Amino acid sequence: MEVSILREVSENQVSEFLEEFAIDVLTGLSKTEKKLSTKYFYDDRGSDLFQKITQHGDYYLTRTEFEILLQSGSKLASLISHEEIDIIELGAGDGHKSELVIDAFLKEDRKVNYFPIDISVQALKQMQAHITHKSNLSVHGIVADYLEGLKFLKQKSKRRKLVLFLGSNIGNFDRAQSESFLRQLWKHLDNDDYLLIGFDLKKDVEKLHAAYNDSSGYTRDFNLNLLDRINRELGGNFNKEKFQHVGVFNPKLGAMESYLLPKEKQEVYIEELEHLFEFEAYEPLHLEYSFKYSKEDIERTCQHTGFKLKEHFIDKEELFIDSLWQVVKR
Ligand code: AVJ
Repeated sequence: MEVSILREVSENQVSEFLEEFAIDVLTGLSKTEKKLSTKYFYDDRGSDLFQKITQHGDYYLTRTEFEILLQSGSKLASLISHEEIDIIELGAGDGHKSELVIDAFLKEDRKVNYFPIDISVQALKQMQAHITHKSNLSVHGIVADYLEGLKFLKQKSKRRKLVLFLGSNIGNFDRAQSESFLRQLWKHLDNDDYLLIGFDLKKDVEKLHAAYNDSSGYTRDFNLNLLDRINRELGGNFNKEKFQHVGVFNPKLGAMESYLLPKEKQEVYIEELEHLFEFEAYEPLHLEYSFKYSKEDIERTCQHTGFKLKEHFIDKEELFIDSLWQVVKR
């Protein structure tokens, strides 16, 4: 696999990253309503725990999307009829779901150029291990943030593009942020290019609740790992034992939210910030939104951001949608 590094990670940037992490933590913990950013979930331990979540029976999202892609691959390939196509994936993932999409095109003797874009070299390397070499397939990893990577590809290749934004990753954005992100995507694509985007559907709250409070406690550990990361990287002294994980559905927002609640009043010192933070007992610390969509929400979002809806791929139980959109510029 060829790799283009648009973001060289020098020592300088490692310290820039820590600086940004420190400032984000300072900003988030200084608010009246304390919060931390989901951006920092995915260190090695966090990625490992997320992997475990996706394989857990309670977390229906990953296996459902896998089923959808397995079922709909050939329909997708027939809707996009080009002889040769660039498939661009936002976030490298483990390559399993993208492989289903790629295989659907290869099966029909089409040529595929696969470009996973990820900010982490590590993530691309792991993905690479899962992608088997096949004829008519070229793989080219890009180390960059999503929009940077897309811009690079728009200049590099004039072929028809299919962008994959799977796994309900859009769910971490609120409604306004997701529309803004989609408009930026639109801007970096050409007329008639495609986007296949995964949305988790609004559903029975019990089912949602189970998925974000799995019976093995991986989701709890995934959230608590953020406190550990602050301890490790910023010299904090959080005691994880003193926090409770809460995953709840907010019907007004249409989103699952996760919080950590301090079980007693306490103080936490963070060396890197030279600051002592005070936590009241059960004062909420907000960690994550996972927005859920109805079909109507998806259709509205599609229209508002300059795309045309081509097809909804849905599982039998109607838990999840992979929606195929096409860029409309004229
Ligand atoms: C990676 C954002 C899709 O919101 O379902 C899983 C992350 N958090 N369990 C999601 C997550 C807790 C996941 N996304």
